[in-house]
Amino acid sequence: MLNDIPTTKVARAARFAKTGLNVGANYIKHYAKKAVGAESTTEDLHAANAAELYGTLSEMKGSVLKVAQMLAMEKNMLPSAYADQFAQAQYQTPPLSGPLVVKAFRDAFGKSPFQLFDEFEPEARQAASIGQVHFARKNGKQLAVKVQYPGVADSIKSDIRLVKPIALRVMGLNEAQVRPYLEEVETRLLEETDYALELRRGQEIAAQCQELAHLEFPAYYAEFSTPRILTMDWLTGQHLKEFLVTNPAQDVRNQIGQALWDFYQFQFNNLHQLHADPHPGNFLMRTENGGTLGVLDFGCVKDVPQDVYQLFTALLAPETFADETRLAALLSEAGVLRASDAPALRALYLRTMHVSLELVGRPFRQATFDFGDPSYMAALYALGDDLMADPELRKQREPRGSEHFIYLNRTYVGLFALLTELKASVRTQ
Ligand SMILES: Nc1ncnc2c1ncn2[C@@H]1O[C@H](COP(=O)(O)OP(=O)(O)O)[C@@H](O)[C@H]1O
Ligand SMILES: [Mg+2]
Repeated sequence: MLNDIPTTKVARAARFAKTGLNVGANYIKHYAKKAVGAESTTEDLHAANAAELYGTLSEMKGSVLKVAQMLAMEKNMLPSAYADQFAQAQYQTPPLSGPLVVKAFRDAFGKSPFQLFDEFEPEARQAASIGQVHFARKNGKQLAVKVQYPGVADSIKSDIRLVKPIALRVMGLNEAQVRPYLEEVETRLLEETDYALELRRGQEIAAQCQELAHLEFPAYYAEFSTPRILTMDWLTGQHLKEFLVTNPAQDVRNQIGQALWDFYQFQFNNLHQLHADPHPGNFLMRTENGGTLGVLDFGCVKDVPQDVYQLFTALLAPETFADETRLAALLSEAGVLRASDAPALRALYLRTMHVSLELVGRPFRQATFDFGDPSYMAALYALGDDLMADPELRKQREPRGSEHFIYLNRTYVGLFALLTELKASVRTQ
C-alpha cells in the first residue's frame, strides 16, 4: 500500500542515488570482467542496469513509472533489455487505499464519493499510470472515475530532475544536445497530470471524430471532474490481449483495425492533433456490430504544427524516397542532415533514412496493407536494432531531427504494433 512507497523528496532522492551507484557498479563489473578477459556482454550489462533502474522506478511509482512506460514504447530507441523490463510498468502499481480515495474526493468536492455518486466502488477496477480507475453509477449511468495519486503532479518535475542525469549517463547522452527532446517529453508528461486538460481534449477530439465508423468515445462529466479526478462513461469491451483470446473473426479484426487506422489518419490529416498514446490499455474492443473500438485516455495529445505536418507527409510520400535530391532537401529541413557533415556521414544518414522511410512508409504506399504479415513488424524492429548496432551511428552521440517527431514516431510505431497484433488488413489510402 501507499505506506511502502517513498513519497518524500529525500527518500526518493536516496533511492535514485542508490540506483545511480548500482548502475555505476554494473559498469565497473562489466569493465573489470573485460579487463581480466572474462566474457561479459553488453547485453548482460544492459539487462543488469535495466533491472536496477526498473526496481527503483517501481518502488517510486508515479510519474517515473510513466517515463518507464514511455521508454518501453520506444522499442526502436532503446536496447531491448530496457524495453522488456519497462514493458511491465503498467501492471506493477500498488493501489491507493479506500480512505485516501475518500480524502481525495473530500479535498476536491467537499464530499465523499459515496455522497457524490449513487454508487461508488471503493476498490479500484483498474490501475492507471499515475492514478487508478473506479466504477461508479449516477442517474442510471455507469461511470469510470480516474483518481490521480495525491502529490504526483507536484513531484513530477523533481522526478524528472532525478531521472535525467542517470538516464543520460546510462545511455551516454549529453544534456545540452538532448535538451529540446527532453523538453518535449517533459511538456507531455506534465500535461498528463492535468485531468482538466484531458477532459477538454477528450471532448473536442471525440466531437470531431463522431462521423467515423465503429468508434466509441466516453462522454466526460465536468461537474464530477477536477484537475485530479476525471469522470466519464464506463465503456465496455476488452483490452487487445483478452480480446484476441476470444478468437475474433478476421472480419471483426479488420473492422476494428480499420477504425483504428481511420481514427489516426483523420486526426493527423484533418485535426493536426493526435491521441499520442496508442498503448493497448487505451482501447477497448468488442465484436458487437461487426467490431467496435472504444477509445480512452486523451492524457497525451500531440499538436502537430503546420510545417511539421507538411514535412512528415512529404518524407513519407512515394515520390520522395525515389528521389535522392528531394530526400536530402527534406532531411536538411528536418535537421537530420547538416551542412557541416562530412560526405561519408551524410551518405550514411541518407542511406539510413532511405531504408527507414521505405519501411515505415510502406503501408501508406499501398491501397490495402496486411498487418497480419508478422515479417513487417519484425523488419521494423530489426531496423531499429540495426541502427542501434551500427558502429558509425553509435559514434554519433547527438540525436538529430525535429523534436516534434518523437511523438509522431511513437504514435505510428504504436499504431502499427497494435494493427500487427490484431492481424488486421486495412485500407490505408
Ligand atoms: N471510461 C472507461 N471505461 C472503462 N474502463 C476504463 C475507462 N477509463 C479507463 N479505464 C480503464 O482504466 C485503465 C487506465 O485508464 P487510462 O485513462 O488509460 O489511464 P492512464 O492515463 O494512466 O493511462 C484503462 O486501461 C482501462 O482499462
Ligand atoms: Mg492509458
